[in-house]
Amino acid sequence: MCGIVGYVGKKNVRDVIIEGLHRLEYRGYDSAGIATTDGKTLVVKKAIGKISDLEKAIQGISFPGSIGMGHTRWATHGGVTEANAHPHTGCPWTKKLQVAVAHNGIIENYRHIKTLLEKKGHMFTSETDTEVIAHLIEEYANGSLFEAVRAALNDLEGAYAIVVISKEYPHELIAARNQSPLVLGVGKGEYYIGSDPSAFVTHTRDVIHVEDGEIVRITPEGYTISLLDNTPISRNVTHIDWDAKKIEKGGYDHYMKKEIDEQPHSTRDAMRGRIDIENGNARLRGIEDKLNELSILKRIIITACGTSWHAGLVGEYLIEELARIPVEVEYASEFRYRSPIIEPGTAVLVISQSGETADTLAALREAKRQGGLVLGICNVIGSTIARETHSGVYLHAGPEIGVASTKAFTSQITVLTLLSVLLARSRGMSQARGQQLLKALADIPEKMTYLLRPENEQAIKKIAEAHAERNHFLYLGRGINFPVALEGALKLKEISYIHAEGYPAAEMKHGPIALIDKKMPSVIIALKHDPLYPKIISNMEEILARGGDIIAVATEEDGEIEKKAKHVLRVPTVPIELSPLVTALPLQMLAYYAAVKRGCEIDQPRNLAKSVTVE
Ligand code: G6P
Repeated sequence: MCGIVGYVGKKNVRDVIIEGLHRLEYRGYDSAGIATTDGKTLVVKKAIGKISDLEKAIQGISFPGSIGMGHTRWATHGGVTEANAHPHTGCPWTKKLQVAVAHNGIIENYRHIKTLLEKKGHMFTSETDTEVIAHLIEEYANGSLFEAVRAALNDLEGAYAIVVISKEYPHELIAARNQSPLVLGVGKGEYYIGSDPSAFVTHTRDVIHVEDGEIVRITPEGYTISLLDNTPISRNVTHIDWDAKKIEKGGYDHYMKKEIDEQPHSTRDAMRGRIDIENGNARLRGIEDKLNELSILKRIIITACGTSWHAGLVGEYLIEELARIPVEVEYASEFRYRSPIIEPGTAVLVISQSGETADTLAALREAKRQGGLVLGICNVIGSTIARETHSGVYLHAGPEIGVASTKAFTSQITVLTLLSVLLARSRGMSQARGQQLLKALADIPEKMTYLLRPENEQAIKKIAEAHAERNHFLYLGRGINFPVALEGALKLKEISYIHAEGYPAAEMKHGPIALIDKKMPSVIIALKHDPLYPKIISNMEEILARGGDIIAVATEEDGEIEKKAKHVLRVPTVPIELSPLVTALPLQMLAYYAAVKRGCEIDQPRNLAKSVTVE
């Protein structure tokens, strides 16, 4: 998730852009850049690090003109280097059109376009998907910047919000959106463009939300909005009255809630370009070089900490069920110190949102020391874990800022599902079964959107508030939803400080059942189409018999569950293998609203850190 800002107006362009970049820094920062033009030169400067590092790097440099753009990057393609930072330019020697492009999103067909353009003599200087946009616009140069950008956009597949300026058209800024946010700011004789209004909120609060498939042309005289086929669009300006802090959080009070609500989008990004429906297979380019080794694996050890460890447990169920490869899941802190046995044919899969967790990194190094094949699933591109694994897959979830992990969890499960299908297909799983699973996976973002609808959210909030003063909770699940019970309990502990324990539902009778009384609610994941449903119902009976209260996570179709459960958190029906991708969400919200009711510090809970870089 990167941040974009653009400006056309009479103020000092450099200052407006740098201020906007500072406000967008929450969207991620590993490098940043700025470009302006006055028609004589196109000045582009970039630096690795935070916006303050860019400021240092551009001290003493003059940025001419009254048009410019800036970008704060959170890497998705290519490591964190100055060359990979935005804005990107085309061929330095071009006489046609010298452009600078900033982009937020992922261009899925960039490899294909890059190959075609290389054949035509274009020279690329970065590893990014974005650079192809600059070269493509240059290729389409035909006497109008707008037309060249429009032609280029028609070739792109994937998600983007882009801003383009050029030396040849120093009074024109073009921006476009497809599945990545973009907002136009309308000032008095000046115009702004941003990933969100925080980029320009100190200058204007009059905004137009650019929609998917729209292209905006801004000049000092005004702006036009049109569709990619040139149909003009007219849209009213809306006035926002949020403060800057709230805008950074997209209008939310807390990053955690924003990230919960981002899950339809982040899971889609985790599977984008990775589903090959025709062949019923997954395409994971990051581990393509290891496909031969993966097809003869005898055992997989998954190691991670915290929420990532819970995702690993879901991965164990998926890989064993679909690919029939034995999997063990180990806490990284245990694995690193207990002389693990890594024989030939064993792969170690490390999972980490941050890519910096000290114990996970140490486990990775131990696995490598023993000669194991080490694969990674990480969110942060270029993080230490991502760099040190032999091969790996990124989540593309965007920065996760709330300490309690939410969207990273569902993205990790999405990637683990893809990996399981890939492993299973090389071991005899049928194409039809692969197709069936992948189609259902592709539907998950829509199911999540439905789940997160306001009425359902209000229902969950009411249940959370009614239980916010309880001191102990039990979370129960079976099969693939047992790890979700663990994750639900962890969420509640982390942010509301209510004691909660997760258990496999049947294991309850070996201890926790002694605690059950009127004051301790049990949250039970009970999906009607789960073959284990009758067993879960029996577990519920055991709780009811001891006077316990039940909050069930149940499907919309389950009309019977209210006979057992006093409260029900509804989820849409999806195949059991994919059900953690929906059952996790109400549990995240239950924890969130209980913590809000208790007045807790949601995004920075006491004693916890987002990235635990110490042992
Ligand atoms: C910390 C965070 C958790 C996270 C865990 C592992 O405890 O608070 O949210 O799950 O570290 O972090 P990683 O970045 O390796 O996934």
